[in-house]
Amino acid sequence: MPTPARPEPAERASSSAAPVKPGAPYLPFTRPTIDDETIAGVAEVLRSGWLTSGPKVKEFEARLSEYCGGRPVRAFNSGTCTMEIALRIAGIGPGHEVITTPLSWVATSNVILAVGAKPVFVDIDPRTRNIDLKQVEAKITPNTRAILPVDLAGLPVDRDYLYAISKKYQLRTIEDAAQSFGSTWKGKRIGATGDFVSFSFHPNKNITTIEGGCLVLNDEKEAKLAEQYRLQGVVRTGNDGMEVSLVGGKFNLTDVAARVGLGQLPHLDEFTAKRRELARIYFELLDTPANRALGLRLPPPDFTQGNWHMFQVILPEEKLIAARTDIMAWLHSVGIGTGVHYPAIHLFALYRKLGWTDGDFPHAEYAGRNILTLPLFPAMARADVVRVVEALSAVIEAHLKP
Ligand SMILES: Cc1ncc(COP(=O)(O)O)c(C=O)c1O
Repeated sequence: MPTPARPEPAERASSSAAPVKPGAPYLPFTRPTIDDETIAGVAEVLRSGWLTSGPKVKEFEARLSEYCGGRPVRAFNSGTCTMEIALRIAGIGPGHEVITTPLSWVATSNVILAVGAKPVFVDIDPRTRNIDLKQVEAKITPNTRAILPVDLAGLPVDRDYLYAISKKYQLRTIEDAAQSFGSTWKGKRIGATGDFVSFSFHPNKNITTIEGGCLVLNDEKEAKLAEQYRLQGVVRTGNDGMEVSLVGGKFNLTDVAARVGLGQLPHLDEFTAKRRELARIYFELLDTPANRALGLRLPPPDFTQGNWHMFQVILPEEKLIAARTDIMAWLHSVGIGTGVHYPAIHLFALYRKLGWTDGDFPHAEYAGRNILTLPLFPAMARADVVRVVEALSAVIEAHLKP
């Protein structure tokens, strides 16, 4: 590995074009693991003549429901639409407020805007990087209808505290558990308890359907409504009966995608165990006196509840002469992929236009500027983590302020 020389700004700008070190394969920050049986199963579906929503989707929903303790589950073509549909089922729309976090994929708050309601952001707890539940009650008004928290990187939000607030103020809860499939809270699987629970099966997630998601609901009445919102509001009866009583969309999962999910689900626990093992190695190598002196902030060392959807460090902005983008470019130049999950939502142009500005949520903003996702996926080996930590330590060391 080349030693990162302390670069001049012009050099830094060009470092993204540096070649990958010969012999070192590019290590992306994530990569799905799909076995041959699943690939063969997809070919079977393609040959079957039934491609869109059909028997495979039904089977996938049944397996997901078993996984979620028998609760009703419906599959969709994204995680995003499941949250929008949960909000609609809860009757949330114009004039209503929904409390959420500013540190998430922008889908989390876009769905609130999409139903005509107002997102009310609450800053994150800088330790967990999840919504700071201690600050939620102060933001509740007569218009508040729901809380929409996110389990960032798969680390579960405190469900006891969350549901104590929801119950006290009679609010609905839409758990954005896009990243926490496979996580648990006090021994219970995320999805097996609670109000609405939304999962995503995007390829970056711990299991995938390529694109897709599912919504865990409370009863069959909600599940029927979810089916209507999923496909044009249609209700079918008998062979030729059709009625439409609400405006639905086009959010159904295909059987091809469901077959991918059916092949992934049995591996979930094994994937989670592997991710935890890799996360432990990151701690072993990063939580040393020499690396602590670099000022990197590590995630909470949780090895029982979270699914380690991502391993994210927060760079010590105040100690560095380089920006995050330069550090990412240098890591890329030595064949290491990293990601940014996520910039603070309230500082995007759309949200600034709605009135939010710099300084509103200082912890989320600091994380948004400095958070860095390191490679973590089940097919990685210890040597990959060693390589990432050596490269990261070297590039940070080379860019510390004198
Ligand atoms: C926290 C969070 N919320 C929502 C979503 C939306 O999921 P999808 O991309 O499946 O629509 C994602 C996934 O990207 C996510 O990470």
